[in-house]
Amino acid sequence: MPKKEIERRIDELRRDLNEHNYRYYALSQPVISDAEYDRRLRELEKLEAEHPEFASDNSPTRRVGAKPAEGFKSVQHSVPMLSLNNAMDEDELSEFDAQTRRFLIKEGISSEEIEYTVEHKFDGVAISLRYEGGALVQGLTRGDGFFGEDITSNVRTVRAIPLQLRGDSGAPPAVLEMRGEVLFFREEFDKFNASRIAAGEEPFANPRNAASGSLRQLDPSITAARPLTFFSYAFGAVQGVKLPASHYEAMLLAREYGFPISPFFRKVRGLEPLLAAYREASEQRASLPFEVDGIVVKINSFDLQERLGFRQRSPRWAIAAKFTAQEENTKLLDIHVQVGRTGAITPVAILAPVKVGGVTVSRATLHNEDEIERKDIRIGDTVVIRRQGDVIPAVVAVIKGQRDGSERKFSFPRSCPVCGTHTIRPEGEAVSRCPNPRCPAKIEQRLVHFASRNALDIEGLGPKMVSLLVGHGLLRDLSSIYDLSAEQLAALPRMGELSANNLIEAIEKSKEVELPKLIFGLGIRHVGERTARVLALYCGSIERFTSLTYDELLEIQEIGEETASAVSDYLADEEERRTLAALLKKGVHPKPVKQAASGELEGKTFVVTGTLDSMSRKEAEQLIESLAGRVSSSVSKNTDYVVVGKDPGSKYQKALQLGVTVLDEEQFQEITKK
Ligand code: IVH
Repeated sequence: MPKKEIERRIDELRRDLNEHNYRYYALSQPVISDAEYDRRLRELEKLEAEHPEFASDNSPTRRVGAKPAEGFKSVQHSVPMLSLNNAMDEDELSEFDAQTRRFLIKEGISSEEIEYTVEHKFDGVAISLRYEGGALVQGLTRGDGFFGEDITSNVRTVRAIPLQLRGDSGAPPAVLEMRGEVLFFREEFDKFNASRIAAGEEPFANPRNAASGSLRQLDPSITAARPLTFFSYAFGAVQGVKLPASHYEAMLLAREYGFPISPFFRKVRGLEPLLAAYREASEQRASLPFEVDGIVVKINSFDLQERLGFRQRSPRWAIAAKFTAQEENTKLLDIHVQVGRTGAITPVAILAPVKVGGVTVSRATLHNEDEIERKDIRIGDTVVIRRQGDVIPAVVAVIKGQRDGSERKFSFPRSCPVCGTHTIRPEGEAVSRCPNPRCPAKIEQRLVHFASRNALDIEGLGPKMVSLLVGHGLLRDLSSIYDLSAEQLAALPRMGELSANNLIEAIEKSKEVELPKLIFGLGIRHVGERTARVLALYCGSIERFTSLTYDELLEIQEIGEETASAVSDYLADEEERRTLAALLKKGVHPKPVKQAASGELEGKTFVVTGTLDSMSRKEAEQLIESLAGRVSSSVSKNTDYVVVGKDPGSKYQKALQLGVTVLDEEQFQEITKK
């Protein structure tokens, strides 16, 4: 064949294979057999091998690339990946509908204009895909919503993810980010686990964990061998193309580009049709080839979405309506108590093992003393267990009709089961705590928290390892982690030289932690990830953090009295200060995040009006919130800045009337520059 011919054939095969992929995954309408697909793929492989001059990175033959040299890079999301509020039943979904209507009607929108989209809530792993000039350039995990891990080589192996955006007409968008969920096929899951067990490996607990484990493989050829699929549900940053005015049309466009969308995707108006869709999806759930745990309901119009805006981490215009929890009955064999990181004493139900939604449950939380009392739970009772997604299984009720008189009441301990110190239960609180700061159980839990993924992320230092190390006297406080040596570790039971070295390496790596994660990892009461980020942005450095006073803490937006006193108590504790100083001395070197801009936006209230060139209004608002600013939908004298784009509305007039500072797009970019 002449060279020109070959080039033409290669090009033809690539287009053809991409199109069949799209038909298979996005449309679920394959027109050729798998065998025919493979035949064409092999023809392409052969031609490319014979003619390397026509190679292309985004050829369908190139899904499996090389291993990244070292672990996954942490990359900031251009638009944060937020979460959704949950509705647990029809009542809560109705409440969402009522609230949304109230809000929009106040804004002058009539009830008839309100339309929702309904799609599956996929129970997999959230990722963000970035295409530049139509080619896939990056795949990130959701991570903490602000920073994700770069798993590009792994997402490339997922055949439902296009390597190249579809569309023959016109230039591809300069930038297009597609968000969605990677799922493991359910049917393949059992086979896959069976083969793991046969190979002496630990099976995965559920398809979601299997998907997550697959995406976090360092060797993409392993990911490629796993039965993964992908569904898209939202756009991230988009440049060089205008998205339609509604989520429904936007998702149809996503499908045009080649992305699979929820097979349940539809529009509904009114509460009854919404509830009907929820019921229908719930009935179909079991027959789907992948796991879903509810539906996601979104306001269809982007304009109305913008008016509804966001709460701290979730949009007001959407809700995840979870399917009814999976429940089973079993016997309550005993009640143990557990001591948490903050000393909280939690009762745990020890159960006769029972399968709930495919997972064997033998322990469940009983929450606290009052709950046991209120539900009149006794040892020996038959109880109802509920499990839902990630949430720890819980005992929800007692079947009193099954009692035979042999059941025993449980007497809640008044002293810590581990160190024996008298517990304290402050007035009005449901939780008893062990007040002893040296309680070994607390120390152990604090270490586990410190090393966990969203804190210092020390791989290999999980609960079992921590317990082993504490038991051997090798860990006493947080800073003692950094005194461990490979020799000490290698001498432990079932610990080889290789695992010892890996753990030491992971510990070493954790020294370069980001400041918010370190603050979160310290395990201060009331300081979750979000608050840790707020504190880190405010302080900029760990030294500054240690100098915070109660009064100053109260000045920080979003920090309430409880948190302020928890943080100042922590900072006033001699022992804690010594530990923190020791961490720093041993080389923990927290990196500040976006410190420069944070000073500008911390606690400032913004209103965005009109059309911006460089980003959508929604993106601008997310940017503000990611820098600890606040977004409001109306201008008042408490507004600090009104950001004005093209064709601003009455909010601009109002800003001028009230004398609020007005920023044009350029000025806005200046103060949000990272
Ligand atoms: S929309 C701003 N749609 O649920 C909100 N999320 O709690 C953007 N998820 O981690 C999310 N299915 O990965 C959206 N159809 C769907 C979804 C979905 C699953 C996940 C998402 C996120 C979590 C939110």
